[in-house]
This record gives sequence, C-alpha cells and structure tokens, in this order.
Amino acid sequence: MALWKLLLACLHQVDALDNGLGLLPQMGYNTWNDFECEGVSAKNISKVADKMVELGLPALGYEYLIIDDCWADHRGKDGKLVPDRNAFPHGMKHVADYVHSKGLKFGIYMDRGRWTCAGRPGSQGYEEVDAKTFVSWGADYVKTDSCNGPDSLEDPPSAAAIAQYQLFRDALNATGRPVFLALSGWHNWYSPYGESLANSWRIGYDVRNWQSAWNFAIRVNGFLSDFGGPGGWNDPDMLVGSSSKTAVQMTPQQSRTQFSLWSVMAAPLLLGSMLSMGHHDLETYTNTEVIAVDQDPLGIQGEIVWENCPLRKRTNIKQSQFYDEIPACQQVWARPITDGFAIVLLNLDAEKPANVSFAVSDVCWSSQAFVGKPCNFFEEASVRDLWRKEHLGIRKFINVTLARDGASQMFKIKPIIPQAPHTSAKKKTPASTATGHRPKSRHREPVSSHFSVALETDAVHFLQQPDEL
Ligand code: GLA
Repeated sequence: MALWKLLLACLHQVDALDNGLGLLPQMGYNTWNDFECEGVSAKNISKVADKMVELGLPALGYEYLIIDDCWADHRGKDGKLVPDRNAFPHGMKHVADYVHSKGLKFGIYMDRGRWTCAGRPGSQGYEEVDAKTFVSWGADYVKTDSCNGPDSLEDPPSAAAIAQYQLFRDALNATGRPVFLALSGWHNWYSPYGESLANSWRIGYDVRNWQSAWNFAIRVNGFLSDFGGPGGWNDPDMLVGSSSKTAVQMTPQQSRTQFSLWSVMAAPLLLGSMLSMGHHDLETYTNTEVIAVDQDPLGIQGEIVWENCPLRKRTNIKQSQFYDEIPACQQVWARPITDGFAIVLLNLDAEKPANVSFAVSDVCWSSQAFVGKPCNFFEEASVRDLWRKEHLGIRKFINVTLARDGASQMFKIKPIIPQAPHTSAKKKTPASTATGHRPKSRHREPVSSHFSVALETDAVHFLQQPDEL
C-alpha cells in the first residue's frame, strides 16, 4: 500500500465538525486584501466596523469582520498569544467588544504551523490554548492558515495537515462556543475532507488579481461542486475590489465578474476593501439579487454548463501550474437556485470582445450534473438581467456581446415547463420538481469512511497521487 494511503488509513475516526454554522456561505469583511500587514490596528478595525454599518452592509448579510494576519506579536509566559501592543493597546477583547457593539461578528486569524505566513507566532502545539483564548475574546470566526506546518503540501494528501486541522477543530469544539471555522489550505486535494474539518476551506492560493482568479479559482472550482454545500463550502478566496488604495486590485469589470461568479459558485463573500471602497464596488457588493443567488438556501454549487475553453483534465489542475495564461475563450456557468437558475456568461479573452448565444434549455445539463436527476425539459424561460435589473421577457436564447478581459453578464431564469396534456387537476407537483431541480441530498459521513470512499472515486483526482505528480 502506498505510504500516503497508509497514513490516511491510520487516521482515527473522530467526530465531524458540528457547530451548526455555515448553512449558507459566510459573508463579511477580511483585512488582508485591504491592508495586508500595514495598518491592522484597533483604530482601523473600529473605522471598518463603523463604515460597514454606515453602508448598511450587515443588513445585507455581511456579518463577519475578520482580522487577518499581522495582529499577533509574541507568545506570553502563560503561553497565550499577545497582540501587537502598539496596534492594539487595549488588547483584542476590547476590539471584539467594539465589533460586537456594532451588531457585527468578530473573526480572528491563526496559522496551524509554527509561524504565520507573515512570520507572526503560529499555533502549532498551542491549539487548545489558542482556541480558548480566541473564545475568551468572543471570537465568532477563526481563519486557520497553513504556513510553516509539519506537512509536505507538495505530497498530498497530507495526513499531517489533516490531523492538524482536526486538532484545532476539536479544540474549538471543546470550548462549547459555536465558532465558524475557515481553513486556508490553498489546495483542492482536501476538498473531499472539507466538510468534516471546517465550515469552509480554501481551494487554491491567494486571489490577488484577475490572473490568479483564473488560475486558483475559476479554472478549478467547476470541478469541486460535489464537495460544497450547507455546512461547508469550497472557498476560492476573498473578493478583490477595484480601489487603488488597497493592497490588491482588479479592474472594476473584473471585480464585478468575480462577484457574479463567486455567487454562482456558492462561495464565501468576504469583502477586501472598505474605507476606500468606490461607488462601482459598492454597487457591485450591494446588489441584493446577486447576493440572493450566493445565499440561495438550496446551497448547490454551480458548474460550467458550456465553454469553448481548452480541455482541462482534472488531473491537470495542479497548483504547481501557477501561471497558466488565461485562455482566449468563453464560459457559461449555471447554478440551480430555489426559483430557477442563475447564469453567468463570461469572456476570458484578454484581447477581443465576444458574442455568446446560449440556449436556456442547456441549463438542464447543470441540473443533471448537480442533482443527479433528469431536468424537466423546457425550451423557454422568463429571463431577468441581474445587473441591469430588467426583465427581458420569455426567451429561448440569451444572446450577449461581452467586452474583453473578464467581462460577464448575469441572469436569472425561471423555466417555463410545458403543461403535460393529461395532468390530473387534483395531483399537485412539488415546487422543486416543477422548476426541474431538487436539493442535493447531503449527508455527513464519519471521517474515516469519508477518507476511504473519497480516495476510490474519480471525483478526487485532485488528490494528486504521487505517480501523477
Ligand atoms: C496566506 C493566506 C492569505 C492571508 C496571508 C496572511 O497567504 O492565503 O489569505 O491570510 O496568508 O499572511
């Protein structure tokens, strides 16, 4: 038996994460894309909290305010993490109290290795202490990063990494406080184990611009839809706004496309700019119809239902392919939602605009792929443009011209299901059948059986067995 299989087989069965959280993808704000290490301070966190309230963001669902890396200074004699005294002069509970006083939830960052990615103290060997400390501050959310851990991320699946995630998960569970747990493991090989470990898990490296959005998220996440759902979500990383004052940016058009795609992917919506957010980004992030797609209670992650992009075999989707050129092609993504389907038509071509014509009936592919049941075939649907906020009437096709370099359009369609000629008037069709989709049946399996099942299936080619590397 290969060593990696043996290591996984040795993992003992442990209780899955069961904190009742993450029934919908998390929404909020995280400091990293905004500040990185410059300006992570109590003063700025208060300003961000005030601005979130002023903009009415909590009412739209943006509930978490998460402090990312660069807050911790050292470990005290009692073993507890000590925040940077200059940046957080009154300690972290004081900051959490302020965030709570604004009606927001408080999130904090840690790293399961010896040091965080920015070189601050990590939690390895201090999992219990840190879980208790965060809870004593009133943390509602913990992001667990993966730098400097005792595993080889290049030799996945890493039993050491998974065991360490379990350690912190169990420490957090033991505190008795329901705390949203977000893993930041930057790889997709652990997606099959994700829902037993956390409420969300990063599937790739950091999205810092449009190129990395393609490489680490768009290129990969269409293959991972089986693993995300209520309770635990694939996380293609945080939103990148178009403000020039933040640490990372996209063009306004690409930022909007990211928001549309992330909603169809049922991804966490974590804003990456606040104090310098411009009008265009504010309009993007407050589109309630797009947010409703992301937060659709069926919790089915969208997939690609049509594309003319070069074939990407699952086994080729490797993180080591850091800088694949963005292909000059188009895609259509679709997601079954409670009252129809959400669709995003995307032009990846950096040089030229593109015309895309899409038959609405083709979303049946997505219904079949996601739900495993045939779609009630339909030819026509009532179509709404979610960015122009216009009803476009009953259509068989959606025809669009998309600008170059990451432009997209997003629609919601409600299928018009043909009436069966002999339907009895008394017989009621359940609403979910009438729209051609049903919720995916999800059940959580114990970790040990999850490992053995997942390793045998085609769906986990992402595990990148050593002979594929
Ligand atoms: C990693 C993570 C980022 C951020 C930084 C902090 O790169 O992927 O999201 O948390 O570390 O150092």
